[in-house]
Amino acid sequence: MSALKSVIGSEPHGGRLVSRYVEREDDRKRLQVEAKELPSLDVSTATVQDLEMLATGGYSPITGFMDRADYRSVLHEKRLANGLPWTIPILLNCSEEEAEKIDEGEDVALLDPAGGPCATLELEEKYHLDKREYMKHVFGTTDSNHPGVQRVTGAGEVALAGDITLLRRINHCDFKDYCLTPRDAREIFDEKGWDTVVGFQTRNAVHRAHEYIQKCALEIVDGLFIHPLIGLTKDSDFDPLLRLQSYEALIGNYLPGSRTVLATLLAPMRYAGPREAILHVLIRKNFGCTHFIVGRDHAGVGDFYPKYGAQRLFEEYDRSELGIEPLFFKYAFHCRKCEGMATEKTCPHDDVYREAPSGTRIRNLLKEGREIPHEIMRPEVSSLLQEKASFANGDPVA
Ligand code: ADX
Repeated sequence: MSALKSVIGSEPHGGRLVSRYVEREDDRKRLQVEAKELPSLDVSTATVQDLEMLATGGYSPITGFMDRADYRSVLHEKRLANGLPWTIPILLNCSEEEAEKIDEGEDVALLDPAGGPCATLELEEKYHLDKREYMKHVFGTTDSNHPGVQRVTGAGEVALAGDITLLRRINHCDFKDYCLTPRDAREIFDEKGWDTVVGFQTRNAVHRAHEYIQKCALEIVDGLFIHPLIGLTKDSDFDPLLRLQSYEALIGNYLPGSRTVLATLLAPMRYAGPREAILHVLIRKNFGCTHFIVGRDHAGVGDFYPKYGAQRLFEEYDRSELGIEPLFFKYAFHCRKCEGMATEKTCPHDDVYREAPSGTRIRNLLKEGREIPHEIMRPEVSSLLQEKASFANGDPVA
C-alpha cells in the first residue's frame, strides 16, 4: 500500500456506504404492489435522481431527505447536525396542499414522472422552507437568472423528511455501460490495484484544459475516474450523451485507457459553485476516490461566484474530516510561446499568446459554424460536436 493511501484512505463519508435499494426482485415487486395502497406524492426528475443517489450510497451517510435539524445545520454551518461536513440540503419539496394530505409517521409512495411508485418515504417530519434564505445561503443570490434559483422558485414550500427505500432504479438507456454505483466503482478500483484514484466532475464536452488538469493529476495518482454528471442540467449545457462521447474519443487516443475509468453520475446539477464543489468531492469519496480535481469556477455559472471560491471553501474543513485530497488547479490555457498547455503558475508569457478553452467560447464557435482550434479542443472531439452539438441559443448564463 502506498504512503498516500494510508494517509487519506478511501472510506465512505461517515464510514459506511448506504444502501436503500431493495435488491431482490420478488421483494421489489411485492413492495411496489403494496405502495399502490399508500398515500402518494408526484416527484420531479431531479428528485428521482436524488433518490437513486441516496439509495445507491452516493450521498452516504444520508439515508433520506433531510429533517429540519440537518437542513438548518447544512444551511448555516455547512455541516450535518452531527458535525460531518455537508453543504447542499437534500430535500423533498411539495406544496402546502400536498403536505396536508399526508401525516407524519405515515409511509408515502413517491411517484416518478412516468407515474409509477419508484420509492417509499417514511415520513418523519414536515416543515416550511424559507426559499429566499435557502437561495442566499446555497447560491449566494436570489437572482432569477441563476438556474438553481429558478429550480428552487418552482419547487414547493414544504419539505418532507424521512428515510427512503428505492423500489426501481432509473433506466439508464444510452448510458448503461457507464452506470456504476459507488460499490461497483470501488470494486473496479480494487481489481485494478489502484491505491490512489482522482475523481473528475464535469458537465461539459472535454476540452484541452480539462485534459491537461486530468493529465497533471495522473502524474501523481494511480488512476483517473472521469465522472461526467448526466443528471438534470440547464438547456445550454452540452447534451449528456455528447459529454460521454467526447471522452470516448479521448480515452485511448490521448488518455491512457488502462489508467482511466469512465462512468456517469446521475445526479442533478445545482450550479451552487463552492458549496457544490464540496458536495462533489464527498460524492466521489463515496465512489472510492482518494483525490479530486477542483479547477477554476467549479460548478459555477455565469459570473455568480468568485473564480477560485470553490478552492477557498475547502479551507473551512480539516483534510482529515473530508477524508479526500482536493487537487487545485489554476485556469489552464494553451500558450503559443510555451507551445503547450499551462497555467499562470507555469507560463511566463503574456496574455496575447494564450488561447482560452472555455465551454462558452466553444459553444459560440459552434453556433457561428467556425472551426474550433486544436489548441483548445482535440479534432476528434470538435468534429463530434460539429456533427451533433445541441445547445440553446441566447442563454444568458452559459
Ligand atoms: S463543472 O460545472 O462540472 O465544474 P466543467 O465541466 O467545465 O464544469 O469543469 C469540470 C472541472 O474542470 C471543474 O473542476 C472546473 O473547475 C475545471 N475547469 C474547467 N475549465 C478549466 C480551465 N480552463 N482551467 C482550469 N480548470 C478548469
